[in-house]
Amino acid sequence: MYKVLLWVHSNIRWFVLALLVLAIVRGFQGWFGNKEWSDTDKKVNLFTMIFVDIQLLLGLILLGVAPTIRLALNMGMKGTMKNGQIRFWAVEHWVMMLIAVVLVHVGYAMAKRAEASVDKFKKSAIFFTIALLIIFASIPWPFMRVVRPLFRLF
Ligand code: HEM
Repeated sequence: MYKVLLWVHSNIRWFVLALLVLAIVRGFQGWFGNKEWSDTDKKVNLFTMIFVDIQLLLGLILLGVAPTIRLALNMGMKGTMKNGQIRFWAVEHWVMMLIAVVLVHVGYAMAKRAEASVDKFKKSAIFFTIALLIIFASIPWPFMRVVRPLFRLF
């Protein structure tokens, strides 16, 4: 179960990143190009939020089954905080990602609620950009302290 969840969670990241980039590009184009908010913009924002939520759900289940989290629980708070690898999974990754998930939800809701098209584009551009930066910084890329594969194979 852990391996399947990790495989899905690992590879869905690419959809999350692609959708966020698309929503951000459309957000800035609409904002500075004075465009009309369309059905496509609405759908792009909605799919971005859905994929981010899928990651959250998978991440929450992973917290319950990942060996790194079990190890952290056995090591205790002090031991976990001293070990950069374990600390990343037990604290840093999910806390930062949770903040990003909240920002995506706030951006989506604020864009939906805004009256003028320019405000809808502005809200999604700003909130999604901050969320993307946080997500990017919290992924275990090959050039980070904690490294995981770019594409996980079974
Ligand atoms: C958009 C948000 C997220 C992205 C892009 C993301 C990305 C990733 C990536 C790339 C990995 C490594 C997968 C691998 O080993 O191949 C991972 C692992 C993991 N993530 Fe996330 N994640 C996100 C959100 C979350 C959230 C919200 C949680 C918890 C609530 C979470 C918990 C975990 C856990 C527990 C692991 C496994 C650690 C292990 O195997 O030792 N993730 N995530």
